Formats: sequence, C-alpha cells, structure tokens
Amino acid sequence: MRILVTGVTGQVGHDLLAALAPLGEVVGVDRAQMDLASADSIRATVRQVGPSLIFNPAAYTAVDRAESEQELAMQVNGVAPGVLAEEAARIGAALVHYSTDYVFDGSKRCAYTETDPTAPLGVYGRTKLAGEQAIAAAGCRHLILRTSWVYSLRGRNFLTTMHRLACERDELRVVDDQHGAPTTSAEIARASAALAARWLGTGARDAAAGDAPADGVYHMSCAGSTTWCGFARAIVERLPAIAAALGGPPPRHRPTVTGIATAQYPTPARRPANSVLDNAKLRAASGVALLAWEDALDALLAAPQAVSARAAAT
Ligand SMILES: NC(=O)c1ccc[n+]([C@@H]2O[C@H](COP(=O)([O-])OP(=O)(O)OC[C@H]3O[C@@H](n4cnc5c(N)ncnc54)[C@H](OP(=O)(O)O)[C@@H]3O)[C@@H](O)[C@H]2O)c1
Repeated sequence: MRILVTGVTGQVGHDLLAALAPLGEVVGVDRAQMDLASADSIRATVRQVGPSLIFNPAAYTAVDRAESEQELAMQVNGVAPGVLAEEAARIGAALVHYSTDYVFDGSKRCAYTETDPTAPLGVYGRTKLAGEQAIAAAGCRHLILRTSWVYSLRGRNFLTTMHRLACERDELRVVDDQHGAPTTSAEIARASAALAARWLGTGARDAAAGDAPADGVYHMSCAGSTTWCGFARAIVERLPAIAAALGGPPPRHRPTVTGIATAQYPTPARRPANSVLDNAKLRAASGVALLAWEDALDALLAAPQAVSARAAAT
C-alpha cells in the first residue's frame, strides 16, 4: 500500500513517517512538493504519487495569525482538504485528516463528544471546520481525527516555549482558566497508525472492538485534562529532563508558575475555556486509546528517540 503523508516538517507529519512505515510504502511531502494553498499543486502531487491512503496533518496552525490571514487560512484548512478528498474519491484512495478541539466554543461543562454542536470562536477553528465539511461532502472514504494542544520536542510549541521562558525568567504567568488535554504528536501518530490499520482491515482487530471502525469524525487526544498553567507546572517540574531531551544545558533555576485569567493575557484569537475531548468513540470503535497526558509527557522525555520507534512498532 502506498501512503501519502503531507506536512512532514510539522509535528504530527514527522512522527507519522515512522509510525506508518509498517503499513506500507510511505511517501512524505513538504510544502515545496505540495502547496495546500494551490489546488493545482495538490492535484498534481496526488496524481504523481498515486496513493491508496492519504494522511493530511498539514495545516495553517498559527491560531492568532489566522485572524489577520483569513483568506490563506481558509485556503489551506478549509478548501485544500476538500480538493484532497475529491482527488482521493477519484482514485479510490482513503483519507485520514486532522482537525481541532477549537471547532467548539468551550461553553460545555464536560468533555466534548463527536455529536456535540460545533461553534468555533475564531478564524482557525472556522477554517478547520470548513475542511471537515468539505471532506464529508467529497464522498471519499475518510477519517477526521480531532486532537488538541499538540506538542513535541521539535519546533515551536507550548513545551519548547515554556522551556525557553523558564531559562530566562524567575516567574511564568500562565492562563489557568482554559481546560484541555496536552497531546504529544508521538501519541497521535501511534494511535493513528493503529486506527488506520483496523479501519482498512490491515491490522490485528481488537476482539472487544468488533467490526472495523466506520468512516467519520473521531476525537483523539491524550487522556485526562489540565489547564495551560497546569501543563506549565508539569513542564517546570521536569525541566532537567526536558533540557536533556532538547540537548541543552541543565536549567540554572526553577521558576515559579503563577496562574492568571485569560482576560490578563489578551490574544488576537479567542480560545475555548473548555476543549477537553471525549475519546470514548475511538476506544469503542477501534480499541485504540492514548496515554494519560502526564504519562505521554514522561514517555516523550524518557526516550525521545524511542517514542518514534514505539510508534513504528504499533
Ligand atoms: N498544534 C496544535 O496544538 C493542534 C491542536 C489541535 C489540532 N491540531 C491539528 O493537528 C494537525 C497537525 O498539527 P501539527 O501541530 O503537527 O502542525 P504543525 O507542527 O504546525 O505543522 C503544520 C504543517 O503544515 C505545513 N503547512 C502549512 N501550510 C502549508 C501549505 N500551504 N502547504 C503545505 N503544507 C503546509 C507546515 O509546513 P511548513 O513547515 O512549511 O510551515 C507543517 O509541516 C493539524 O491539522 C492541526 O490543525 C493541531
């Protein structure tokens, strides 16, 4: 099976390369090889690669910048997934696409299920929701995996930003009234590969899970929940391990972490106060479950290289 993976310079795209290797021949493409802002580029790449399975983790992910780059964000997040899905339908390929907890407005008191009404608060969430709808309308076999608060040891994300700030400051003031589940890209990649294998019938089926998972939307985040401040505290507690995993010198001190309200940290984009995702549908349909968020963080730090290998072995 030939598998096309987009966005391989991103967190999830990078980890998918290793995780999907046991499933078939993986062809990863970056922005230069397939620009999601161009329908022609998408069509040309899909036609050239000729995959039977496509993973699309590539996205316009700059939540605040999207407020002032609405057109580009909509092209990449809202229009491109539909073009990919049309191409997939044309050649009989299946599509696995990633979406976000920010399709919800955060007003629910408990975890969001796949059937809860969507009501994005910002441009990013609106464009990602448009992408979900475009895929559903295109008629190809598809999975839409909504995840949350993605981080890894690569690039710019909450973990690497907090580590940098912790090295510079004595106090970190972090929003304590937005609730969600930090999720490692390694866990997403591992779970995605296991789910796809069961979906397409190429992997061992979980006896308790019964039939192959149906097409549609699934929530896929680490178990449990916290606030950005709670996540920052967990990061600060693990600073020496994080410095070692990032290949930097050990921290000279441990800063204090102070919780603040969202109103004290204004941003261009509004974010949901609660975007915890309920993963019960994923578990029931496929037997696939992600680690608790603290355990995923520890797993990432315990063996930064081995996480990719574990993903590949799933
Ligand atoms: N990050 C989060 O906290 C979060 C939360 C919920 C859901 N998600 C979703 O999860 C998925 C994976 O997120 P991630 O954190 O792995 O994203 P990421 O690390 O920000 O990577 C995004 C990838 O998309 C690529 N990309 C952006 N614009 C492109 C374009 N015009 N053409 C082709 N490629 C383009 C980037 O390429 P360049 O390197 O060239 O920019 C990069 O490889 C996305 O669908 C995202 O919406 C993410």
